[in-house]
Amino acid sequence: MSAFWHWWVIGLTAITLVGCYWLIKFAARIPAGHAETETDVTGHSWDGLQELNNPLPRWWLWMFYLTIVFGIIYFALYPGLGNFQGFLGWSQTGQYDREVRKADKEYGPIFAAFAAQDIDSLSKDPKAKEAGNRLYLTYCAVCHGSDARGATGFPNLADEDWLYGGDPDAIKASILDGRQGFMPPFGGALGDDGVKNVVQYVKSLSGMPHDAAAAQQGQTQYMTLCAGCHMPNGVGMAALGAPNLTDNAWLYGRSDGAIAKTIREGRKGVMPAHRAFLGEDKSHLLAAYIYGLSK
Ligand code: HEC
Ligand code: HEC
Repeated sequence: MSAFWHWWVIGLTAITLVGCYWLIKFAARIPAGHAETETDVTGHSWDGLQELNNPLPRWWLWMFYLTIVFGIIYFALYPGLGNFQGFLGWSQTGQYDREVRKADKEYGPIFAAFAAQDIDSLSKDPKAKEAGNRLYLTYCAVCHGSDARGATGFPNLADEDWLYGGDPDAIKASILDGRQGFMPPFGGALGDDGVKNVVQYVKSLSGMPHDAAAAQQGQTQYMTLCAGCHMPNGVGMAALGAPNLTDNAWLYGRSDGAIAKTIREGRKGVMPAHRAFLGEDKSHLLAAYIYGLSK
C-alpha cells in the first residue's frame, strides 16, 4: 500500500472513532423531555403514537463507549490501520503457515510411513487406499472426476489406458512434475480435404466404421505428418504423451468432428505439477492410489 493510502485509511479510521465519541456526547447533551405530555420536544406524533426524547439507558451508553474502546485496542493489536501490522504481529498468511506446519507435524509421520513402502504393496493396503482416496478427492477430483473416470480433455485414471505409462514410476512422475501434451495444428498443412481423409484413416486404426477410399488417401499423409509421434501403427508414444489411436479410449472424443478439430487446431493438455504443493510423500501415496484404481 502506498504512503498516501496508508495515511488515508488511518485518517478515515481515526475520524470515524472520534466521530462516534462526539456523536454520543452531542446526543447526550440535548435536553431530555420527562413528562409524557411533552411531545413538543420532538414534535413527532403519528397515528396516536408520540415520540418522546428520554435519556439513553446507562447500560446502552456504556456499550457504546466499550465498542469505541474495543475498536482502539483491536487496531493496536491487529492489522487494519494501513500498513501498520499491529503489535501482535498476526497475519492471515502467518496463521495459514502455522496451521500447515501443525498439520504437517501431526500427519507428516503418517505420510512418511506410507512413503517408506513401495507403490505396488501400498496400492493393496486398505488404510493407504482410504487416505489416498481422501487426498484424491481434495486435489485431483476437480479435473479427473470424483470416480477418476475423467472427462473430455482429462484422462481416465481408472482404466488400463495411459498417455504417459501406467507403471508406478510413470504415474508418480506425472503427479510430481506434471505433464504437457502438445499436439500441433495441421489444418494449414492438410487443408479441408486432407483433414477429412486423415480423420477417416484415424478411424480405421481403431476399427471404427470409416470411408475406405478416403482413409487410403489419408494414410500417406498420416505416415508423413503423424507417424513420428503416434507411431506408424498408431499405438502412440508414452514419452510424448501421444495417445494410442488404435484403442477405444479417446481423450477428446471419437466423433468425426472431435477428431477433425484435434487435427485442424491441435491440442494442449496440461497436468499441473504437484511436487512443490503436495510434496514427495503425499504424491507417493496418490500414485499408489491411482495405480490401485487401474488394477
Ligand atoms: C487442473 C486439472 C488437473 C488437476 C488438478 C490434476 N490433473 Fe492430472 N491431468 C490433467 C490433464 C489435463 C492431464 C493430461 C495431460 C495431457 O493431455 O497430456 C492429466 C494427466 C494425469 C496423469 C497421466 C495420465 C496418463 O494417462 O498417463 C496422471 C497419473 C494424473 N493426471 C494424476 C493426477 C493426480 C493424482 C492429481 C491430483 C494430485 C491430478 N492428476 C490433478 C489435469 C489435472
Ligand atoms: C509432435 C507430436 C505429434 C504429432 C506430429 C501429431 N500428434 Fe496427435 N497428438 C499428440 C499429442 C501429445 C496428443 C495429446 C494431446 C494432449 O494431451 O492434449 C495428440 C492427440 C491426438 C489425437 C486425440 C486422441 C484422443 O484420444 O482424443 C488425435 C486424433 C491425433 N492426435 C491425431 C493426430 C494426427 C492425425 C496427426 C497427423 C496429422 C497427429 N496427431 C500428429 C502428438 C502429436
